[in-house]
Amino acid sequence: MAYATILTESRGPVGLITLNRPQALNALNAELLGELCTALEAYDADEAIGCIVVTGSAKAFAAGADIKEMAPQSYMDMFKADFFAQPHDRIVAIKKPIIAAVAGYALGGGCEIAMLCDFILAADTAKFGQPEINLGVIPGIGGSQRLTRFVGKSKAMEMCLTGRMMDAAEAERAGLVSRIVPAADLVDEAIKVATAIAEKSQPIVAMAKQAVNRAYEGTLAEGVLFERRLFHSTFATEDQKEGMAAFVEKRKPVFKQK
Ligand code: HXC
Repeated sequence: MAYATILTESRGPVGLITLNRPQALNALNAELLGELCTALEAYDADEAIGCIVVTGSAKAFAAGADIKEMAPQSYMDMFKADFFAQPHDRIVAIKKPIIAAVAGYALGGGCEIAMLCDFILAADTAKFGQPEINLGVIPGIGGSQRLTRFVGKSKAMEMCLTGRMMDAAEAERAGLVSRIVPAADLVDEAIKVATAIAEKSQPIVAMAKQAVNRAYEGTLAEGVLFERRLFHSTFATEDQKEGMAAFVEKRKPVFKQK
């Protein structure tokens, strides 16, 4: 199948998906998110594939949800479309393991998509962050819930409140990534790990994935729904309009709401 915003390629028993909107640092617009989910579902259904790798470019795994696409949305637009419920739920439903191979920026929705994968291999160039606060919104694809489970409340709170980025070394220390590899080796190493997983029993791998997720999830679904409703609400504020307009106009935002 031909995609416009991603590249797909089978490497033996591994399905490799490369996010490919270089002009926007792989910002996650509706088309890219739809294609990513469709490609994941196709590999999930393909008996020849045992593990999936999702990667981006050397500069960006993904620099977040597409701000230009979101900027004009109203609260009702977001609420009625239940924005970001679809990609979240479709990725969570994938039964085969997914490895995120992250180089460069994984920000906002990019960090959230990486955390939706089963584990993250990071290049030494990787930078993770939830900078939504700078745009007058909050994470909306599970970021406030998953980051807190990965790195604990204190660091997650700091990241979500300040929007600062974490480099690969800090992300590894904090438990966000499984390990760091040199950037030049990232995709090869991810394919190697994925191949080793794909060579195991697929049903047992699926059970191991379910078991680990069981320990990890708890009341996550409620947390994600709660977060999504709040995220929608940010679109009722003037500061969301200001934050996103300022980004598009390449100026500093002036937030006014107290
Ligand atoms: C739309 C984006 C984008 C984004 C980058 N671009 N990030 N477009 N949405 N999230 C575009 C820029 O507008 C620019 O296009 C081109 O990509 C290159 O980006 P630059 O800013 O020129 O690159 P650089 O100076 O190297 O800075 C890289 C960067 C910066 C630090 C990553 O782009 C940045 O801060 N991006 C936004 C990060 C962010 O706030 N992410 C969270 C998004 S909100 P033009 O056409 O101008 O050249 C989010 C919400 C999640 O994710 C909640 C639900 C999902």
